[in-house]
Amino acid sequence: MKGFPKNFLWGGATAANQYEGGWNEGGKGINTSDVMTAGSHTLPRRVTYKNVKTGETGSIIGFGPGAKLPEDCIPAVIEGEYYPSHVATDFYHHYKEDIAYMGEMGFKTFRLSMNWARIFPNGDDAEPNENGLKFYDEVFDECAKYGIEPLVTLSHYETPINLTIKYGGWPNRKCIDFFEKYAKTVFKYYEGKVKYWLTFNEINCMEFAPFVAGGLNDPSPQNKAQAAHNQFVASAKSVKAAHEISSEIKVGQMLAYMPLYAYSCDPNDQLMVMEAAQTSLFYSDVQTGGHYPAYRLKKYEREGIILDTEPEDFELLEKYSADFLSFSCYGSSTVSTHEDVNKAGGNLMMGIKNPYLETNAWGWATDPACLRIALNTLYDRYHKPLWIVENGIGWDDKKDEDGNVHDTYRIDYLRKNIASMRDAINLDGVDLMGYTMWGCIDLVSAGTGEMKKRYGFVYVDRDDKGNGTLERSRKDSFYWYKKVIATEGIDLE
Ligand code: BG6
Repeated sequence: MKGFPKNFLWGGATAANQYEGGWNEGGKGINTSDVMTAGSHTLPRRVTYKNVKTGETGSIIGFGPGAKLPEDCIPAVIEGEYYPSHVATDFYHHYKEDIAYMGEMGFKTFRLSMNWARIFPNGDDAEPNENGLKFYDEVFDECAKYGIEPLVTLSHYETPINLTIKYGGWPNRKCIDFFEKYAKTVFKYYEGKVKYWLTFNEINCMEFAPFVAGGLNDPSPQNKAQAAHNQFVASAKSVKAAHEISSEIKVGQMLAYMPLYAYSCDPNDQLMVMEAAQTSLFYSDVQTGGHYPAYRLKKYEREGIILDTEPEDFELLEKYSADFLSFSCYGSSTVSTHEDVNKAGGNLMMGIKNPYLETNAWGWATDPACLRIALNTLYDRYHKPLWIVENGIGWDDKKDEDGNVHDTYRIDYLRKNIASMRDAINLDGVDLMGYTMWGCIDLVSAGTGEMKKRYGFVYVDRDDKGNGTLERSRKDSFYWYKKVIATEGIDLE
């Protein structure tokens, strides 16, 4: 049996807004996730705001394509509301302990996001916040002790909120300059310590969560298209800056990718799959492929969308496309044009229910085969190295009488998913750089803001209301993953 390549980057992934906490410590500013309340499986998370003229407060849906702030209202932290990102699972004060757990499992890499507002609290500051720079410096030094290579996302739903209030968020081209300055600052500061960077987490979330993805206070189709364009240019400028600083630094794209299946062989269902796939692939066609695809330009023409561009934008996109393509993939999604099928159930995130697949309590389907399909599709399309930076299963883990979490369901999910990656490498020849299982230490769910939707190898004592000691303990999957890494993916039993 062939395993994984010797230099394969095994590890786990996290995001500052779901893991780090310390939201108002060390000079950090507020970001888009810091104004999002907790939700649940049925109740959406909300963005709180205050009216600058009347002082009145209120909220709008946070994750959604149409979340628009009312006139004279700015996103704000409101007293008495509960915001899961503020403490999250407190990596800020537990990083040494957590990185030691990662070291014990044999991690080769650790994906974390840098809280942009910890480095530039308002996004448009003249100078970076030294305290913020020092914090991550210590984190990277800690990683180095265990031979762990950091993989750093520059923005994981963490645009400084001042950029929304003052500039309207990413539809404003000024954000390109602010981001470029931020990227250059940290590329230089951590040169020699951080080799792998990602620009925007799940950049295609601009389609269905524009506030979270780009701090948009008005998510009109025109604004979303402009925000995406500005992020593409900011990414290209980051690649350029990184290469000028050092040829060692690699800057990747991060895409939310979910293979799509048609519910039937009705050609209309197949067309629906094609169009839905283009909605995501547009983002990688530009950022990794280097060009605006014809299907998207035609769409903009039909919808009367006109992009505000500079003459050099398109050359930059082509010349400085992403060095590698990373993506999240939790399962597949099934679509249908048939009303009766659509009514049959399923959930918002994952389309309609696929009768061949099992789902977790949140309706997310487990589909290991789709990982191999995703890897082949993306490799064939771009011929660039790939990296799976999110995959895993959310579960309401409970401690047994012996005080431990026996998460056999997670081991089962991961075993099948890792075997599917192994096939993509060994049977299909896909160039896969690494795998970072999502939420390696328990953290807050992005979609629901819950704690009980856990992904980790390490349990953290904290509940949905923010109670708990934050004490860490190993789950059964911890020992299993350690063995997988030690055997280079050969022993998955
Ligand atoms: C990805 C995000 O979409 O999915 C993560 O990049 C998120 O931030 C993950 O946590 C899992 O989703 P959820 O809603 O279960 O946290």
